[in-house]
Amino acid sequence: MNATAPNMTRADTSVATTNPSKLNLTLQVLGLRADGFHDLRSLVIGAGLSDRIECMRSDVPGVSVSCNDVELTGPANLACRAATRLAEHLGVDPDLHVDLEKFIPVAGGLAGGSGNAAATLRLCNRLWNGGLTDGELAELGAEIGSDVPLFFSLPAAVMTGRGERVERVSLAWRGWVLLACVDCAVSTSEVFAVWASADGGDSDTDSVERIVRARTAEQIMPCCFNDLEAAVFRVAPDVYRVANAIAGASLGPMRISGAGSTFYRLFDDQETAHRAASRIDELRMGLTTAVVPAPVGLV
Ligand code: C5P
Repeated sequence: MNATAPNMTRADTSVATTNPSKLNLTLQVLGLRADGFHDLRSLVIGAGLSDRIECMRSDVPGVSVSCNDVELTGPANLACRAATRLAEHLGVDPDLHVDLEKFIPVAGGLAGGSGNAAATLRLCNRLWNGGLTDGELAELGAEIGSDVPLFFSLPAAVMTGRGERVERVSLAWRGWVLLACVDCAVSTSEVFAVWASADGGDSDTDSVERIVRARTAEQIMPCCFNDLEAAVFRVAPDVYRVANAIAGASLGPMRISGAGSTFYRLFDDQETAHRAASRIDELRMGLTTAVVPAPVGLV
């Protein structure tokens, strides 16, 4: 627990969990809507790079948050906003402290903040005996961010609409994901703002079905695509430079997740994934690598 957290009132008034990150294996942008959002179709899996969240009753009224990343300690934190929204919905006067330990990069396309919000909704529902179902929590979550509802349907799901319509799917594949995170926060709204319909050339409507049936990483990787990739490269030249370096080093296919700065590749075995991670480290481009299991869900 972070040293700045207020004292807990009772030992049994704390609940903790982890939330995974999300990877968009496919991301098709269907077009701009009248409300300013974009309609999407995306196959998403949970990956085992996780943040840890503890929600505890505090002796201070309201909702406070502590975090190993001090930039995230304000009320704009999505975990804070989720707890506040749930308290309002349940008619609870919150006296809550959220302690967040971040491992998922911020604005990296892995929906770490949205996962924190989803996990906080689950934890506070338990802490306050809210009795809400995951479906009801997902509906509240959609008010916090487009990527929040999907966490209630992982390990794997297809999201449509602006992301809030989610259908659980079951993948035949299980294995390992190599993540290579560029040290660069990419703004989702900026990426969508520069997205152009011509960017969607890669889209293949059969890909989702082929990935769901695939048994090996080698079968899945060629089906992965991201219509936002070109827009991310325009917004974040650092990410484009890394994409070129990866291509030049013959590291095999890597894609980026969502509107962020994280490259991924799937592997069937952990050892091969670690070998590929070492080759990424040898590029000396300041990338942070991780090898994690997938698909995984919210616990
Ligand atoms: O819902 P969320 O807060 O994650 O979205 C951040 C921004 O990304 C939105 O304000 C919007 O500009 C853009 N966005 C979009 N279409 C989506 C999801 C997000 O245009 N489906």
